[in-house]
Amino acid sequence: MAKLRILEFPDPKLRTRAKPVAEVDDRIRTLIDDMFETMYAAPGIGLAATQVDVHERLLVADVSSDQSEPHALINPTIVEKDGETVSDEGCLSVPGYYEPVRRAEHIRVRYLDRDGNETEMEADGLLAVCIQHEMDHLEGKLFVDYLSEAKRSRIRKRLMKDRRQQAQVA
Ligand code: NI
Repeated sequence: MAKLRILEFPDPKLRTRAKPVAEVDDRIRTLIDDMFETMYAAPGIGLAATQVDVHERLLVADVSSDQSEPHALINPTIVEKDGETVSDEGCLSVPGYYEPVRRAEHIRVRYLDRDGNETEMEADGLLAVCIQHEMDHLEGKLFVDYLSEAKRSRIRKRLMKDRRQQAQVA
């Protein structure tokens, strides 16, 4: 297993729309393992392939506190959603920022599992929010896109300044 580098906003590669996974093979299963390792190490509760610069429709999530509920969703589509919830979201690609975002409260999602079998699952609350957030990444969308332009540009400037300072000390 290997830890992967996570792209950070405003990297334009995060705006790439991911293509469907054509075949669930060992390459994809290795990517899933590496994405779990990267997500747990961060630490985070979800990670989309887009964030590690692989532009294929794949995400991992685990909202448990003890790494006991790993989910890997390949080519996910939401087939049902209802209700509404607003919660503070963060993102490994936008480190240090948490802002309220409105999402569906309950979703039913159809996807391929790591063996390539078509599967469906229902999710509520945090897991539902997490899956919707990660599916946005696959469309090249970030949670900061739900904020005002002023707020998004403030976050962009501060992150770019942090990175310049890191580059100077490195
Ligand atoms: Ni994210």
